[in-house]
Amino acid sequence: MQTSLACDLLIVGGEGDLALRKLYPALYSLWVSKCLPAEFRIIAVSRRETSPAEFFDQVRSWFDTSKSARQFDEAAWAAFTSSLTFFSLDATSGAALSQLRADMLADSARDLVVYLATPPTIFGPVCEAIKQAGLVRPNTRIVVEKPLGADRESFLAINSQLTAIFEERQVYRIDHYLGKETVQNLLALRFANMFLEPLWNSKYIDNVQITVAESLGVTGRWEFYDSAGAMRDMLQNHLLQLLCLTAMEPPTHLEPTAVRNEKLKVLSCLRPLQPEMLRDNVVLGQYQTGTAGGKPVPGYCEEADAQPQSRTETFVAIKAHIDNWRWAGVPFYLRTGKRLHAQFSEIVVEFKPVPHSIYPEQRVMDAPNRLIIRLQPEETISLELMNKVAGLDVRIPLRTAALDLSFPEENEPGATPDAYQRLLLDVIRENPTLFVRADEVEEAWKWVDQIKALLERAGKAPEKYAAGSWGPTSAVALIARDGRSWREYD
Ligand code: BG6
Repeated sequence: MQTSLACDLLIVGGEGDLALRKLYPALYSLWVSKCLPAEFRIIAVSRRETSPAEFFDQVRSWFDTSKSARQFDEAAWAAFTSSLTFFSLDATSGAALSQLRADMLADSARDLVVYLATPPTIFGPVCEAIKQAGLVRPNTRIVVEKPLGADRESFLAINSQLTAIFEERQVYRIDHYLGKETVQNLLALRFANMFLEPLWNSKYIDNVQITVAESLGVTGRWEFYDSAGAMRDMLQNHLLQLLCLTAMEPPTHLEPTAVRNEKLKVLSCLRPLQPEMLRDNVVLGQYQTGTAGGKPVPGYCEEADAQPQSRTETFVAIKAHIDNWRWAGVPFYLRTGKRLHAQFSEIVVEFKPVPHSIYPEQRVMDAPNRLIIRLQPEETISLELMNKVAGLDVRIPLRTAALDLSFPEENEPGATPDAYQRLLLDVIRENPTLFVRADEVEEAWKWVDQIKALLERAGKAPEKYAAGSWGPTSAVALIARDGRSWREYD
């Protein structure tokens, strides 16, 4: 796997939110860090009648707020933009793309990456136009991002439009959580070290908690979000991918097929829910008026463009089980929601208590070891251990201390690459390991679809929770019923 020397990146939807917010800042950072191929060009296209000058202004204005473009400097920006070209054209038209090919993309020796930063409704027509323009070459790759359907059936329909024209090896499905630095560190921690593997099973692990908590609401994208909800927007993809990496067997190597086969096995072992399991295993919530950052904020149904009667969930908590030897009996508690008390994502692996305490006064049994893999806002891995408080106290007091297992950033603070930098570079380098294969997406939909069908049949409506809280109280009960609690923060 090598970065080819000459590569073109065609961004369809080049003026959209994803491109402006994530792709250009990530590309700029890669460019500044000299990670891109020697001959690299970005060709952005959009259907809107925008002049190149207006386009560059828009791209430029995003840099002021972007985290990933922290090395921004005027001279570097001027040089970067020399590799960026904009065309106002309709990418669903074979004739328009043929003209683009003649103008810019005639050299078939150059790699071509086509990023569809558009809604999936036009994936099919754009792929058809790419084919008509003669741009489907062995060295062409196509990149797509969620939402990839609203259920298994619609995913298969979208996917068949892609695979009718491209081979699976050419299709890169992004789940940006897989590009996060700590996610890759989790793999290193598990598979490049020996100490955890003997403990990584139901004999020693009591439960796993995966939380993706957001303090933001859905401001600005109500309509899209309402058609998805937390289960489709977050659970089906980001949370299940984190679960896979935590639970999968060691792959024989880091080749894409080996890693993806192991993730697929985990997904296919997820226990389907039965109707009688709904009540105790699934909690849906919807945020109401409350506070965020000390300021009052509206409820979900009072946001701009909202439908007041919406029953879409903005919070979901689920107790999942993986039916295989390693994980038999270990609950995986998953939760995600908008307008929660804090903004953080983490995986907590909680070990079983010691079988017998020699510190009877110290409640050792109540303080299990916990491995905490924090994805954001900080990217850290720590291990909570019981530790003796220094001193001569005859009672030998103990306390929980966190051992920091993460390494200090090698360069200046904040130098960790953004997920999109990693993923864009991997597409350019033709390395699909951190991308999701079609069968994984399908399997994840199968599990989510059957839960959604049960919820619909049961007419289960989301419970209300105040913005700025930890979600519905039933989510606390879901885990408390098992004698456990979520790890929470102030
Ligand atoms: C996206 C969801 O996939 O992930 C958004 O559509 C969500 O609703 C976002 O806010 C969260 O990503 P991150 O990287 O900010 O945690």
